Amino acid sequence: MAALKILVIPGSIRSGSLNARLAAAVTKELALADVEATRISLEDFPLPIYDADLEAKAGVPEAARNLKRMIGIHHGVFIATPEYNASVPPLLKNAIDWISRARERSEAAGSALRDRVVAIGAASERPCGGLAALQALRQILAQGCGAHVIPQQIALPSADRAFDEMDRLKEARDAEMLRATVRQLIDVSQRMM
Ligand SMILES: Cc1cc2nc3c(=O)[nH]c(=O)nc-3n(C[C@H](O)[C@H](O)[C@H](O)COP(=O)(O)O)c2cc1C
Repeated sequence: MAALKILVIPGSIRSGSLNARLAAAVTKELALADVEATRISLEDFPLPIYDADLEAKAGVPEAARNLKRMIGIHHGVFIATPEYNASVPPLLKNAIDWISRARERSEAAGSALRDRVVAIGAASERPCGGLAALQALRQILAQGCGAHVIPQQIALPSADRAFDEMDRLKEARDAEMLRATVRQLIDVSQRMM
């Protein structure tokens, strides 16, 4: 059987991003489980704000097609989302919108995330740990994009105090939630390989 490959996407490009740290912790956990994990930055996939006129004129940008291809060559995806006004930030939503428009010649529209196994997490310094963003992201991915979003997820409250200097989670409860999410992502991705 081919080695399991998981793509890890932090939904923030801010320096010192808490969600980038969460993504780093997930990547480390995947590596400990002998999974080939690739962590990317959306900074490397610069995209204009989605505009149907722009798409009609110039097509789907190369960066969106590359991001879709990255998803396609992995068996599963982990997305860490910040919470902005009880939803996902525009950086992440815009990337999802563009890749949902990308398709190879023979493919149906919206195939980028359809039936892909996706796990989600959120980190926020506030007490709810990005639960509203997780709810929004789950709906976007499952209902909007047809992804297989696993039930287990990570909501990390007080995230500014949650990590040690090695980007490990300090609280046992948080570490266990991360482990359980990664375990389920691996199990479901393996089953759907
Ligand atoms: C425009 C904006 C709106 C925000 N709204 C929320 C919110 O509704 N709930 C929340 O928990 N945090 C909210 N935050 C705080 C972010 O979750 C926090 O800045 C977080 O660290 C951002 O993620 P990052 O560190 O990965 O960049 C908001 C931040 C901004 C800039």
